[in-house]
Amino acid sequence: EKGTYPHYMLKEIDEQPLVMRKIIQKYQNDQGELTIDQEILDAVNEADRIYIIAAGTSYHASLVGKQFIEKMANIPVEVHISSEFGYNMPLLSEKPLFIFISQSGETADSRAVLVQVKEMGHKAITITNVQGSTLSREADYTLLLHAGPEIAVASTKAYTAQIAVLSILSYVAAKSRGIELEFDLIHELGIIANGMEVLCDEKEEFESIAREYLTVTRNAFFIGRSIDYYVSLEGALKLKEISYIQAEGFAGGELKHGTIALIEEGTPIIAVTTQESVNLGIRGNVKEVVARGAHPCIISMSGLESEGDTFIIPEVHELLTPLISVIPLQLIAYYAALHRDCDVDKPRNLAKSVTVE
Ligand code: F6R
Repeated sequence: EKGTYPHYMLKEIDEQPLVMRKIIQKYQNDQGELTIDQEILDAVNEADRIYIIAAGTSYHASLVGKQFIEKMANIPVEVHISSEFGYNMPLLSEKPLFIFISQSGETADSRAVLVQVKEMGHKAITITNVQGSTLSREADYTLLLHAGPEIAVASTKAYTAQIAVLSILSYVAAKSRGIELEFDLIHELGIIANGMEVLCDEKEEFESIAREYLTVTRNAFFIGRSIDYYVSLEGALKLKEISYIQAEGFAGGELKHGTIALIEEGTPIIAVTTQESVNLGIRGNVKEVVARGAHPCIISMSGLESEGDTFIIPEVHELLTPLISVIPLQLIAYYAALHRDCDVDKPRNLAKSVTVE
């Protein structure tokens, strides 16, 4: 039930702090430590390479997950779009482990890959919101998202839940491999939940950003570098699917290799910057597009802000920033769709789960 909310999407955006807390609770043992089933950890630790397979928003969460697994647990990861992988399989490593990420657990493109890799004798974990879903039943192991039902077609809380569960898997796997991590993930995810709440209380800000930048435009660009690039891909997907604005996410440094030709007077550029290592780089990219007339909206993390930034998000652990930087993008997409009189929860041409290949 959407209760007092005008749309499921807004309700589901608002539920994200609660979902974070629920996930922490569900993945904690009696001693208050994060835990993952031993057989799943064994499968992870036996692998020489992990292949994550997903579609759409779940693919974007997977790109973030790759960073977690590589940086925390030190296992190489490849991320693939399910509809491509099935028909153009890369050379696999000797001991691959597959992780399927799917909110619904019913995406046919992903299922086709799961069937193929099971036939090849490989192990698979499904990370899904739906217990008993096809991908969950057919994989060897399941990790649940505990996000509660997601009704709006545009995925929001499932994306952040996927990233949170991937962070826990990476963290616990790292510990099981004897890798010392210098932060306490439960504490950091708690900070994320609080930061999400702060952002969800700033709805008028995002409504006015959407009004200023996106009410009449034909297109919009989202840019970021490093992990912010992955979030910009998700911001663009959210905006295009519910507002029908042609939106693209780009790695900031890649714009000058062609796409900058599309920048005109007033073209909205939404830049996300949460990483110290690329903060100057992305700001340089913003200057390049502003010099060609772009209308920049800069969303920066506290500690990295500069004068003139449009919105500053609370500071969180630098690996986990996608959990929080995506919230402004979800809310901006929501209000852009609203201002343009679009059907937010049921955008045209889309279904909640895509059960055809
Ligand atoms: C976008 C969206 C889709 C899904 C994609 C995969 O908001 O919802 O891009 O993420 O169809 O769906 P699942 O995660 O159910 O496999």
